Amino acid sequence: MGNTTWQDTALRAVTPAYVFDRQELKERVAFLREKLPNGAKLCFAIKANPFLAEALRDEVDCFEVCSPGEARICLRAGVPKEKLVISGVYKTPEVMEELAKDADTSGIIFTVESKNQACLLSSIAVRYKISLPVLIRMTSGNQFGMDPEDIKVLVKEHPSGLVFCGLQFYSGTQKTSVKRLRREMTAIQELMQELRAIDETFPDRLEFGPGLPVSYFEGESLDEEAYYAELSALFAEFFPHTHLTVEAGRGLAACCGTYLARVVDVKENRGEKYAICDGGIHQLVYYGQMMAMKRPHLAHFPEREGAEENWNLCGSLCTVNDVLLKQLPVKNLQVGDTFAFFKTGAYSVTEGMALFLSRELPAVYLKDGEDLICLRERQETDGINGAAHL
Ligand SMILES: Cc1ncc(COP(=O)(O)O)c(C=O)c1O
Repeated sequence: MGNTTWQDTALRAVTPAYVFDRQELKERVAFLREKLPNGAKLCFAIKANPFLAEALRDEVDCFEVCSPGEARICLRAGVPKEKLVISGVYKTPEVMEELAKDADTSGIIFTVESKNQACLLSSIAVRYKISLPVLIRMTSGNQFGMDPEDIKVLVKEHPSGLVFCGLQFYSGTQKTSVKRLRREMTAIQELMQELRAIDETFPDRLEFGPGLPVSYFEGESLDEEAYYAELSALFAEFFPHTHLTVEAGRGLAACCGTYLARVVDVKENRGEKYAICDGGIHQLVYYGQMMAMKRPHLAHFPEREGAEENWNLCGSLCTVNDVLLKQLPVKNLQVGDTFAFFKTGAYSVTEGMALFLSRELPAVYLKDGEDLICLRERQETDGINGAAHL
């Protein structure tokens, strides 16, 4: 959001709040489509921001979904089943069954993350007499996905009812090392060749999450042009004919979000100036932020005249850790002023420890041109944090 627009938005929003900008999101999708290889599909990892399901429904090719809750959010937002890739390390059997039983007509795809999960999917397919499309997830060296040796056995044994659609691989988030991506692509290419030697019909299809990076803090410089040029060159080198889908969360959604918090109190303690805001670290999460050591991109509203003074911006939580920024130079800060924290469209809204200290959940808005649509009202948490009736 441009500076003038968000100032107007800040006046209309209840705080603390997130505002997600539909236009900004659309522009980011267009940017990624332009930068990624021609013909590559774009998959949104819904975990980055479930509030964007509807806004992205017609913008991206598919959604990577890894919990029953995420699946319900997508379906409620009208995302067609054929756009769902049901991923996740553990898929609840009942939910798998519910989603899988019409998979041959709905077009829904499942990832396979273990031998046991493959057996479970196969048993569902056999029971409902259907063919179940699956992507096999290759591990990147953690609890997710399967070891290449196990994948080879799986393809050799080919459990009944499963239709192999290719491989899935997720590198990890905020990955800027092209060297590392090259190593990973080498391993995927090798495995793909081995699988095709076992089964020549194994599809040349890859769903790849490169962990597209975002530059969050002042002084950081991510050269996006150079990064995407290198990434595309790698895809062209390793997977020139592969049907490629790129999974993205952070790199797609971060830029569309602004978190708004108002100053509700000011004080000076032992010579240090403190501004207390109505939000806090339970709602404002930046990857790589540690105890307010880094300075995210932000703005102060209204713009004021006067000399700059250094302020420690704190949230409303009763913990000394609730410091948003240290020694921020601000002109003439006053109670009622608003701070807008940019690039909070991915993970911030979901990764915060929302229930800590039983404060409210922030409001969530979608900015659609001049309209500010409330997606969720600010909401108290005592009902979910404490016994319902005592
Ligand atoms: C399988 C998978 N794909 C894609 C993503 C999105 O990652 P990022 O936000 O780094 O793009 C994740 C995030 O955890 C993931 O687990």
